[in-house]
Amino acid sequence: MTYIAPSLLAADFANLQRDIEIINSSKADWFHVDIMDGVFVPNISYGMPVVEAIGKHAKKPLDVHLMIVQPERYIDTFFNLGAAVISVHIEACPHLHRIIHYIKSLGIKAGVALNPHTSIDGIRDIIADVDVVNLMSVNPGFGGQKFIPRTLHKIAALKTIIKAENLSTLIEIDGGVSLSNYQEIIAAGADVLVAGNCVFGASNPVQAIAEMKG
Ligand code: DX5
Ligand code: ZN
Repeated sequence: MTYIAPSLLAADFANLQRDIEIINSSKADWFHVDIMDGVFVPNISYGMPVVEAIGKHAKKPLDVHLMIVQPERYIDTFFNLGAAVISVHIEACPHLHRIIHYIKSLGIKAGVALNPHTSIDGIRDIIADVDVVNLMSVNPGFGGQKFIPRTLHKIAALKTIIKAENLSTLIEIDGGVSLSNYQEIIAAGADVLVAGNCVFGASNPVQAIAEMKG
């Protein structure tokens, strides 16, 4: 089964409740919530009051992707705002093992995100502890970018490791997912597709989600 996680970064913020209801009524599995601090990535998205507002209307789990430095400072905050999954970037975490186990101790899913240049070799010794690996398929910071094809090799290589170790770790693909490439991304081994512009830019978002869900 493929999970679909529409990214609210591509929603119409002036009509956020309307866009959340559209996703509620769809076959989507998670809401993808992108938090950017303007330091780890060259953009600032939205913060806690907006996540609180999202949580009031969202009827599916919140998948919070922290694109921030020192994410350990904000785990409790996003947990209290209702996150069901929290992903931190390996590039922002010198003590990744500690933060992953802290997130899991809260009873929610822990994820690690890798920038496009980051090798999957760096997660070999933590893969058994994480619930989700987010392989960034664009440079984080902006929606609407083009999918980096090399990601397909990373997905396949990571899937091989996960299978060999008999793990249930989910591979999430984030950035540039579209109706023209989602099939090859799933075929390579992806379990979760984040989709921003391809959902909210579609004339019929519910239908676009259904198509990717298969
Ligand atoms: C990029 C974010 C993505 C983004 C995806 O920094 O992490 O989640 O919202 O948007 P699309 O699907 O438009 O590439
Ligand atoms: Zn994201």
